[in-house]
Order: sequence, then structure tokens, then C-alpha cells
Amino acid sequence: MSLKIGTATLEHGLMLAPMAGVTDRSFRLLCREKGAEYLVSEMVSAKALCYEQKAKRREAALMGTAPLAAISVGEAPMAIQIFGSEPDFMAEAARMLEASSYRGCVSELPPVAIDVNMGCPVRKITSNGEGSALMKNPRLAGEIVSAMTKAVKLPVTVKIRAGWDSDSINAPEMAKILEQSGASLICVHARTKEQLYTPGIDLRVIEQVKRAVSIPVIGNGDITSAEDALTMIEQTGCDGVMVGRGAMGNPWLFAEIAARMEGREFYAPTIDDRLQTALAHLDQMIAHKGDRVGLAEGKKHVSWYLNGLRGAASARAAIMTADSPDAIRRVLETILKENE
Ligand SMILES: Cc1cc2nc3c(=O)[nH]c(=O)nc-3n(C[C@H](O)[C@H](O)[C@H](O)COP(=O)(O)O)c2cc1C
Repeated sequence: MSLKIGTATLEHGLMLAPMAGVTDRSFRLLCREKGAEYLVSEMVSAKALCYEQKAKRREAALMGTAPLAAISVGEAPMAIQIFGSEPDFMAEAARMLEASSYRGCVSELPPVAIDVNMGCPVRKITSNGEGSALMKNPRLAGEIVSAMTKAVKLPVTVKIRAGWDSDSINAPEMAKILEQSGASLICVHARTKEQLYTPGIDLRVIEQVKRAVSIPVIGNGDITSAEDALTMIEQTGCDGVMVGRGAMGNPWLFAEIAARMEGREFYAPTIDDRLQTALAHLDQMIAHKGDRVGLAEGKKHVSWYLNGLRGAASARAAIMTADSPDAIRRVLETILKENE
């Protein structure tokens, strides 16, 4: 199974899902190293990017949006995901992303594709008609994709949900409209907006989308093992899989899926490997974001590496109150001893 998106060829179609507040550069690089073949940025507001980049007297240091769209060489191939509901802003943002030259930060590479968020269920987003609210407005969704595909040469891809709620499952119809509007790939998170992230996805929706369009379809939702990924591919015929929460604290999941696809044995990391990786991940976050933010945001990632270990609950509590990387290191040394 190999998948082409613009200039990128993915041998297994293994993608890291966009997750705002989680899939920052440190985590993306780690997942890439562990076998993710394609990365997507955290979602970027199209309007904020346009305003920020055009503001006359804005200090570079105050520019918070463009850094979310910056790509480093080790991350390629990577897509940038934008959200918005106004075709003009979405097209303008797409042009900026294609040019990939920002005030306020350096992007070493342009994205391989531009993805549109039509799945975010957060009220702040949907109340503006953005994210999953577009599932209720297929015409506008199509206009957005048309405006973007006219504005740029890069492939435009779309991430959708099954529908808004159980009475309005419309992913297959949406996918057709998006394909007709010029989309190059559809990723389906097989839950409705109303379901948010409650466990249990509907694989039939992915299969129906796959049958409805001829562009590649990526399945997404609840993949936490190689078995889950293979089952999704077998049951839906999807061209690739996107992994989100399953990779948190377990970036090895991509290597595990790739090994299964190739019929190879997968050697799970030892507890020591896991904890060493957690510390290296924390160091990277501090290097990228500075001592204060890197440590604060890194704590949740370190905690995820403790899933399933003896003493994880008390170690997590100690990590949350730790005031330095060294304090976190000591907590991990203790938990390593407890699990020997
Ligand atoms: C913390 C968090 C942040 C997310 N942020 C985004 C986002 O920025 N853009 C997006 O399309 N989906 C976002 N999602 C949804 C994921 O990309 C994915 O569709 C969802 O988590 C289901 O996949 P999973 O079961 O593998 O996690 C987010 C999910 C989580 C848990």
C-alpha cells in the first residue's frame, strides 16, 4: 500500500493526527523518527495568520500564529492545517502557506499540502461556523476548498467527521462535494461532532466515504495498536491511517504498525527506553519553547509515558508539582526502580 500526496510518497500511509496543544515540533519530530510518514501541524487560524502577517507595526515577538505553521527539515513531509469559514481568508492563508515566508519566524520548508479542519468540535470554533460546523454547511465547505485550490498549486486536503450528529451523518456526501471542489485527499474521523471523543467509532462511515470518492481516503479514530490499524484498513479499504491520542506517550505505535504491515516482529520499548525517551522529549520541548513553557507543557507528555506502569498515579502527581527537569528525572528514576 503506497500513497502519494503532492511530492510525498508514503509507503504505508501512516500519519500523525493534528492535535492542538500536543503535536508541537518536539512531538512531531519524535513521531517522525519512530515511523510516522506524514505529519500535520496543530490547527492554525487562517484569519489570525492573515491579520498577523499584514499588521503594520507588529513586533516579531508578538507573532504567535506563524510559528505554528513553520516546518523544520526533519519534519517533512508535513501538511499545515488551517481553520476558518471565509473562503477569501482561507485562500489568502493558503497563499501565505505556499510561499512559506513569514514575518516573525523562519520556516525551513513549505508544506507538502494544506489541510482544512472541518472536524473541530470546540464551541469557540463551531460558534463561528468553523471546524465541524462546516459539516452542516456542505455548500460553504465546497466554496472554501474551491477558493483554496484556485489560489495555490499545493494539494488541498480536508479532515472531516462522520457528521454533525447521529441524525445527520453526511461524510460520504461531504466527501463528494469536497472532491468536486478540488480536494486531493479526505481524512475521516469516524465520529460525529456530538460524540466529541467518546470511545467507539463507526468504521462503516470510512468505508462509505471510500466508496463515494476516487481521491485517497484516510481513516482516523481510536487506533491504539497495530491490530486497530490493520482492522480499519481491512474493513474500510482506506488508503492510510491517522493516529492521534494513541501516539501520546507511545510514539513507537507507528513502528509497531509498520512492522505488522511488513510482517516483521516488533520489539516493544523497554520501560527504561520509554523513560529515557520521555526525558529526551522533555529536553526537546525546553529547547524549543524555553525553560518555563517547555517544562510546563512537557509535564503532560512525560506523564503519558507512564501509562500502565506501577506507581504511575503518584509519579504523575509528583511530576505536576516538579519545578525542574532534574526533579522530573528523579521521579522517573524512582518509578523505574518500582517497575524492575
Ligand atoms: C487534544 C486534542 C487536540 C486536537 N486538535 C485537533 C486539531 O487541531 N485539528 C484537527 O483536525 N483535529 C484535532 N483533534 C482531533 C484528532 O486529530 C483526531 O481526529 C481525534 O483525536 C481522533 O483520533 P484518535 O482517536 O486517534 O485520537 C484533536 C484531538 C485532541 C485529543
